[in-house]
Amino acid sequence: MEYATLHGPWFARLETAVLLDNLDLRPSDVLVDVGCGTGRITTLLATRCARVIAVDRSQRSLEILESRIEERGLRNVTTVLADASQSLPSDIIATRVVSIQLLQHVPSSEGRAKTMKNIAQVLKPGGRAIVANEMYGLSRRFRGAPQELDGPGILYFHTFTPRELVDLVEGAGLIPLRIRGCGIFYWTRYVGAPRALVKLDRWASNLPGASWFAKFGAIVARNC
Ligand SMILES: C[S@@+](CC[C@H](N)C(=O)[O-])C[C@H]1O[C@@H](n2cnc3c(N)ncnc32)[C@H](O)[C@@H]1O
Repeated sequence: MEYATLHGPWFARLETAVLLDNLDLRPSDVLVDVGCGTGRITTLLATRCARVIAVDRSQRSLEILESRIEERGLRNVTTVLADASQSLPSDIIATRVVSIQLLQHVPSSEGRAKTMKNIAQVLKPGGRAIVANEMYGLSRRFRGAPQELDGPGILYFHTFTPRELVDLVEGAGLIPLRIRGCGIFYWTRYVGAPRALVKLDRWASNLPGASWFAKFGAIVARNC
């Protein structure tokens, strides 16, 4: 549950804005949120499309999401318990897919490739996917932080280079369209002038190479 509040409300606003800028979400879309957790993003996008299928391997997270769905009176969200690194139900067909901070916790490159293929499989031809994860960018490198965290009692964590994101998407048969940075001003925690910082960050996310400077990178891809 910690990750739902970890980045704070202003970062969630930025993430949603970057997603909406690049997802081209239409009222008729069927969206799958793979690794939805407790529905931080799911519930925000549900009001903007026809249907959302929210997938996670954690029963507890899905139960929390279900109570949120109930509280907010959302009638178009279905939850599915599944391990995306194994398979996703074959009857899921989506016009849009988001997967936010899931792949970074899949503990092998083979597992991440398989997960990405499963994500691609649910996407209709012409459909669009956004996969966002923490980057192995300049800030991590300057701090000497490792690309990967692993060990007893640690939640496995892999950070990505832009090349890795492109390779994952292409390996799954999708066409990468662009990579957006998300969280260039993350270090400010958006304190002081949150609205202005979020606005500036949203604009800067489009600059070439932004994902090297941002905490997260979002790759936007299309199914052929
Ligand atoms: C950091 S949380 C992000 C949740 C949500 N996307 C968000 O941004 O708020 C990662 C989520 O991915 C889920 N997850 C990790 N590995 C998974 C897998 N192999 N299949 C499905 N869900 C997975 C976890 O249970 C957790 O809910």
